[in-house]
Amino acid sequence: MPATLCARLGGHVSLDARPNGEIVASFYGHSAVLGRFSARAAERAQDLRQGLPLRALSAGGRDIDEEIVLLIQRLARHGLLEYRLGRSQRGADQVVVEPQVPDYWPRAPQLDSADVLVLSRFAYMRRRGNELVLESPRSSALFRICDPKIAAALALLAAPQPIKKLRRQDGFPGIELLALLVDCQILFTINAANDSGLRPTEGNDSLVLWDFHDLLFHARSTEGQHANPLGGVYPYAGTISPLPAVRSCWAGEKIDLGKFSAADTKAITPTVRVLRERHSVRSFNDDRPITLAELSRFLDRTARVQSEWSGTLDLGTGADTDPPAATYTVRSYPSAGGSYELELYLAVDKCEGLARGFYHYDAGGHSLAPIEVRAPEFEALLKSAEFAMGASAVPQILITIAARFGRVSWKYSSIAYSLILKDVGVLTQTFYMMATDMELGGCAIGSINIDLFARMTGIEFYVEGPVGQFAIGRGTTSRLSG
Ligand SMILES: Cc1cc2nc3c(=O)[nH]c(=O)nc-3n(C[C@H](O)[C@H](O)[C@H](O)COP(=O)(O)O)c2cc1C
Repeated sequence: MPATLCARLGGHVSLDARPNGEIVASFYGHSAVLGRFSARAAERAQDLRQGLPLRALSAGGRDIDEEIVLLIQRLARHGLLEYRLGRSQRGADQVVVEPQVPDYWPRAPQLDSADVLVLSRFAYMRRRGNELVLESPRSSALFRICDPKIAAALALLAAPQPIKKLRRQDGFPGIELLALLVDCQILFTINAANDSGLRPTEGNDSLVLWDFHDLLFHARSTEGQHANPLGGVYPYAGTISPLPAVRSCWAGEKIDLGKFSAADTKAITPTVRVLRERHSVRSFNDDRPITLAELSRFLDRTARVQSEWSGTLDLGTGADTDPPAATYTVRSYPSAGGSYELELYLAVDKCEGLARGFYHYDAGGHSLAPIEVRAPEFEALLKSAEFAMGASAVPQILITIAARFGRVSWKYSSIAYSLILKDVGVLTQTFYMMATDMELGGCAIGSINIDLFARMTGIEFYVEGPVGQFAIGRGTTSRLSG
């Protein structure tokens, strides 16, 4: 008997109907009003605890089915549903699909018995608690594999397999699961005749340059592609004490450095002063915003291309082959391999002389190019910075540092993404130093939403995407004493 896909309430969700017909979902101390529904629909909705078959509902055509589909779609948008595959409605789960992004909706593309399927090289299975999960940084859902026979059948897909061969396997998961996995880019179909190697044929040229661990690290250490807890939530505060602010000393006789660096006014150079004065500023003087002239100077001194050249850059990489020629630039901050893969996108709330909006900084031409974006997404970007800084207003300008990943991974294996994050650190300190020197205020921001940026720019998250943020403006207070 083929497995049926049912929509089911997440274990942490309960549904209640109010006397006025509104259905309210409650979860983790929050609630969401899902709209008004008929009394029959409210009663039927309780079956979502057990699971309601999606195909029968979609095909239904009855008013009550339409109401339930609407309710399911609203629950899905709030991330309150999971989808279970099982042979019978009351039997054991075979696979449970957990959405990772709010707009996930289970889709099953048409597959043919002659189609050849293979696992994406970004897909992996791991233990989570007592469960086995199948996931991928490309996927908008995670698959809980509840039946070990299904895990074994999926393992066969490490090499390309025609569906007709899979059908003969003990534990064949059924065509619907395969289709759901294709939809989530955990499996992909290949044309065996034109196969030029699985890496290029995964169906996306922009992914060829990504290593498995780099894409996973990028997608899981940012917001937008997964549903895990994220940010400063102190997950171990109750169980493990924090490490001390300063490491305890190694044993042995110490060499006191104090006498060599004793206060000496001549030693307080402008660089020393800027380093000592540097601090994070999270609130800005909106009566006197940063000016376009100041912004131009800030970008000119920190990020502008000073010169361009082409040729080879052999920095002793240990590669067997001669380094291929490429184009390079000189800028005021260092960059791994001279890559300069970082791009600056500015969300301008208040800047005297510059219209509110979203801009790309052309570091070669030292100019700003306006980018048309939807207002709710622009506001969400600025608001996320306000939230991250615990501030009471959005920053005057939010700089999003995005990486052209391929510029680094074209050269480096295994360390590409880590080099990019190091470059972000270097550029961030350069921003702090220049902001301090110009008596502006700035603050680095650690959490970024890669999905929001992709929606704003229309660029896939693995082609060019945010890796850092920096808020800047005229601070309300300054520690500089002149
Ligand atoms: C990588 C990085 C991420 C940061 N993220 C945030 C953030 O999200 N929100 C915030 O308010 N400050 C953030 N900061 C600023 C730090 O909180 C700040 O540098 C630290 O508390 C030391 O204070 P100071 O910069 O004033 O010397 C970040 C700093 C760095 C370097």
